[in-house]
Amino acid sequence: MEKAKLKYILDDLDHYTKSYHVFAKKSSKFTGLVKWVEDVFPKLVLDKLVESFSAETQINVLGVGSGSGEMDSKMAASIKTRFKSVRNVVVEPGEKQLEKYRSLVESKKSEFEGIEFDLRQLGIDEYRALEGNHSSKYHFINAIQSLYYADDFNDTIRYLYDCLEEGGILLITIISDISGSWRLWNHFPRLQDIIGPYFCVQHLRQGLSSHDIPFHDIPFDENHQRAHVDITSCFEKGSKEGKLLVDFISQIVDFHGSASPEFYKEVVDYIGSEECSERKEDGTILYNNDWDAVVAQKPISK
Ligand SMILES: C[S@@+](CC[C@H](N)C(=O)[O-])C[C@H]1O[C@@H](n2cnc3c(N)ncnc32)[C@H](O)[C@@H]1O
Repeated sequence: MEKAKLKYILDDLDHYTKSYHVFAKKSSKFTGLVKWVEDVFPKLVLDKLVESFSAETQINVLGVGSGSGEMDSKMAASIKTRFKSVRNVVVEPGEKQLEKYRSLVESKKSEFEGIEFDLRQLGIDEYRALEGNHSSKYHFINAIQSLYYADDFNDTIRYLYDCLEEGGILLITIISDISGSWRLWNHFPRLQDIIGPYFCVQHLRQGLSSHDIPFHDIPFDENHQRAHVDITSCFEKGSKEGKLLVDFISQIVDFHGSASPEFYKEVVDYIGSEECSERKEDGTILYNNDWDAVVAQKPISK
């Protein structure tokens, strides 16, 4: 029996943000993403925008679940190098995430010259409801590791595509089908009973195809990104960091305190098993956090 009812981490956004930032730190996530924006983004997205729109265009960007903005703001800055100006609307429900995003923008004013950030504390479903039948159009929309949290995954894909200008680009990144998290949720359907259905790149591809949305056949090495998280502290007794990592990976608030000791052990053992992680000779345990990027460009009608 559980000690308390297991609570989905999204029902406590402050806890989500706290555990997410520990997870990001242990994965060098932001450094990896920033490198991706420097190395892959220009070819995957920027060059295509340049082909479709004149340099005088104000590029309207929508960021969905942009978190504290480390990757989003880099993408906006990259776009600004080729266009006159950029307006970046951000839809992010986490108050603490937006506080960090604001500080980032404030601290790098010169880097973001010519870019207007419009940060809105909303989930994508609230945004949709507010926009009604006349949704704004965007030249570039990104959902970086956030589409899982939309009320209706498949319909949100269609909605975001509909919000594109002709020639506009939708970039979605999502966990790969060989990632530890995807394996974990498949292995423990009980977790999905609490957090709802979860999704990986296969569902994204199926979703795009089900709406007849053409997406790019990106070479595997550009589309698929190797990533790992050092989860060694999850196995250190009493480690606060380890507990937060387990909370983010299981997507349950205080999993240690609220799950039965048997279920906790079963889940944590699985997280550290070779299904999800690699054990190094020095004892470090690296959780597989591979992700994929998929890009869809709306054709320009003749
Ligand atoms: C895994 S984080 C990714 C953050 C950021 N895109 C990044 O890569 O660093 C997921 C983000 O989605 C946000 N989120 C949660 N529910 C959401 C919703 N309904 N609509 C949009 N974003 C949501 C969370 O607050 C969180 O900031």
